[in-house]
Amino acid sequence: MSSLDESAVRSALEGVQDPVFEKSLAELGTLLDLKVEGDSVRCKVALGSPSETLRDKVRERIDAALAELAPRHVEVDWEVRVPTRETVSDDPIPTVKNVVLVMSGKGGVGKSTVATNLALALRRLGSRVGILDADLYGPSIPTMMGINGHPASKDGKTIVPLQRFGLKMMSVGFLLEDPKQAVIWRGPMLHGALQQFVRDVEWGDLDYLVVDLPPGTGDVALTLAQKMRITGVVVVTTPQEVALADVYKGVSMCQKLSIPILGVVENMSWFTDPSGQRHELFGSGGGEKVAEMAKAPLLGQIPIDPEVRKQGDEGLPIVQAAPSSPAGDALHRIAEKLVDLIAKAHFDRTGGSKAPKAENAKRLRIIR
Ligand SMILES: Nc1ncnc2c1ncn2[C@@H]1O[C@H](COP(=O)(O)OP(=O)(O)O)[C@@H](O)[C@H]1O
Ligand SMILES: [Mg+2]
Repeated sequence: MSSLDESAVRSALEGVQDPVFEKSLAELGTLLDLKVEGDSVRCKVALGSPSETLRDKVRERIDAALAELAPRHVEVDWEVRVPTRETVSDDPIPTVKNVVLVMSGKGGVGKSTVATNLALALRRLGSRVGILDADLYGPSIPTMMGINGHPASKDGKTIVPLQRFGLKMMSVGFLLEDPKQAVIWRGPMLHGALQQFVRDVEWGDLDYLVVDLPPGTGDVALTLAQKMRITGVVVVTTPQEVALADVYKGVSMCQKLSIPILGVVENMSWFTDPSGQRHELFGSGGGEKVAEMAKAPLLGQIPIDPEVRKQGDEGLPIVQAAPSSPAGDALHRIAEKLVDLIAKAHFDRTGGSKAPKAENAKRLRIIR
């Protein structure tokens, strides 16, 4: 039995490049621990995201880096260090590391579907996740997540979020007698309700809070962005041209408010018939166009799958019900790309949107 030289192992490992940060483990300081015993290696490496694909990639690079030394056995332990957005002094939810807004120009493109499934996919990667249904006019989280009931309050001031699939959830639907009833808000009430949903809900320690925004470019994103730094926005669009004009408005609002656009998701990209033939029912290219305009990556395309709708209606999201179906898999891969991008965005800019400039916000109100 040959014995490995510890310093040779260390320098090989330290030279491994982290694929997200494009820097070596030595530069990043993310080789946390190393034990060499005989011809076995055990090490611990920190990653900026819970992505399994990232983990596999780093593992491959570790094996390649050590190949020449020919260890008999290599064991890698992982530590996920999800970075935190900058929190301002009066941040309403300082224990929430990242706030991700899911936005689209218009309704019906699958925003709530993407928001719920993304949240679940993030949870399934092992993160602590909450979902806030900020669609105060047409809440869909209760139906899509198959959850009803009224959240409790321990002290009459704060609200305990409901939980399902390991996700913390808050929706105005939980406060209504009939979750499908129409809600009528006057401006100030809407702001108050939204503020309560953020500040007064016991979100606790979360890696990601996914916010399902109402359609349009309106008040809600603006209100949230004025209260706290937003990690970024995921824009949902469909492939056809008509949807694009609305999406552009949303994108340009984010740009004016300096909210980073993390990426674009194209939903309902194609339908595969039983013979295996693909049909682009709603045209093609929308996702790419929006991505180009937003200067953000296209995170993925989700096919049309009747199961998505069925399970959305029955309260069992596709990522949970059929994770390896084409739509479930697409959503999982989008979640993996998203967490890597969040890590990278933090690294590049050290965190979150800038506080929106007051005059920008004012101008937006006027032009809207
Ligand atoms: N990829 C998809 N395949 C099939 N049906 C979908 C898909 N994405 C969304 N849907 C369905 O389309 C409808 C609108 O989606 P929803 O997420 O509520 O949109 P939005 O929140 O943008 O208004 C829902 O019935 C949903 O189940
Ligand atoms: Mg919706």
